[in-house]
Amino acid sequence: METKTKFMKDIAPQKNVLEIKNLSLEFKNEDRIVRVVNDVSLYIRKGETLGLVGESGCGKSVTSMSIMRLIDSPPGNYPAGEIIYRGEDLLKKTENQMAKIRGNDISMIFQEPMTSLNPVITIGAQIEESLFIHRKLTKQEAKIKAVDMLEKVRIPRAEEIYKAYPHELSGGMRQRVMIAIALACSPNILIADEPTTALDVTIQAQILELMGKLKDEIDTSILFITHDLGVVAEMCDRVAVMYSGEIVEQADVYELYKNPKHPYTRGLLKSIPKIGQTRGILPSIPGQVPLPGTFTHGCKFRDRCEEVMEICHREDPGFLEIEQEHYCRCFLYTTIDGKEVSSHE
Ligand SMILES: Nc1ncnc2c1ncn2[C@@H]1O[C@H](COP(=O)(O)OP(=O)(O)O)[C@@H](O)[C@H]1O
Ligand code: SF4
Ligand SMILES: [Mg+2]
Repeated sequence: METKTKFMKDIAPQKNVLEIKNLSLEFKNEDRIVRVVNDVSLYIRKGETLGLVGESGCGKSVTSMSIMRLIDSPPGNYPAGEIIYRGEDLLKKTENQMAKIRGNDISMIFQEPMTSLNPVITIGAQIEESLFIHRKLTKQEAKIKAVDMLEKVRIPRAEEIYKAYPHELSGGMRQRVMIAIALACSPNILIADEPTTALDVTIQAQILELMGKLKDEIDTSILFITHDLGVVAEMCDRVAVMYSGEIVEQADVYELYKNPKHPYTRGLLKSIPKIGQTRGILPSIPGQVPLPGTFTHGCKFRDRCEEVMEICHREDPGFLEIEQEHYCRCFLYTTIDGKEVSSHE
């Protein structure tokens, strides 16, 4: 039986800007080793937005921080896997090599802009920083570019805001500044880790709209991380669904909404509010994401799964292509000797 994950078939590998292959990440705290990412494979194509979605604690942030090599080692360790960018494994890069890639080739924006912005440095100087490091611009050139970036992210009175400090701006404006900083050097990949979660609903919608427009204006691919499948529908071309440190489903966004396969994805889709429905009466998936290290074998979703079978307690489901470019990690779609697993029970 197929239980080990094969890396996804590359239909056009030259079009992938990033490929994560069978990545695992462990943290060693005191004498305990806990695996927080297990056998994660995903790819991002040039110019596309890939959504990475899952409940809190699923491992979305540690996966994206691994791409930027922002996980300290120790306690972090990668027992397996590769993160391929421009044909090279980012996990093998030195800190000096990574410093040339961060903010230049790959940039990241975080949930809470206030903690990422330096409170004692002006907005303009913070945008210029990466332009000095990576583009070697003169002071005057960098200022022109910084003001231009503020205009690109639709900040009014850009010249004035250039001289302002972070505390003088609202949360929404600060997040626009973070986007300006991240895009200043025209990165090939922008990682947005729950960029609108800390903002109120109206501002959230404005930032999402801005990101959608910028994606068309600036030639960048986006890894868009969220716990909200409703946001994914607006923003993304393809979706990877993460549960307990593993990708459990990956497909084109239309395919995933029309034809969800994994019981976890189906549960998440049921909890998206429909027009006219209030949040209070939405069904949610009973139970919680298990703490890392809770399960050493078997399907990690089994305690919450309505379709659990005997094999789900014993064996690890592999991550398999069940339809073209539609991948799923579930025994409902695994066959043994041509027969469905469920018929063996
Ligand atoms: N430095 C660390 N040491 C141990 N566990 C960690 C560390 N950082 C994150 N984790 C654990 O990794 C899991 C995934 O976390 P995270 O990536 O932040 O989830 P998400 O972004 O999906 O909410 C969580 O259980 C979290 O507690
Ligand atoms: S492998 Fe089993 S427990 Fe896991 S999602 Fe599929 S049916 Fe449910
Ligand atoms: Mg997170």
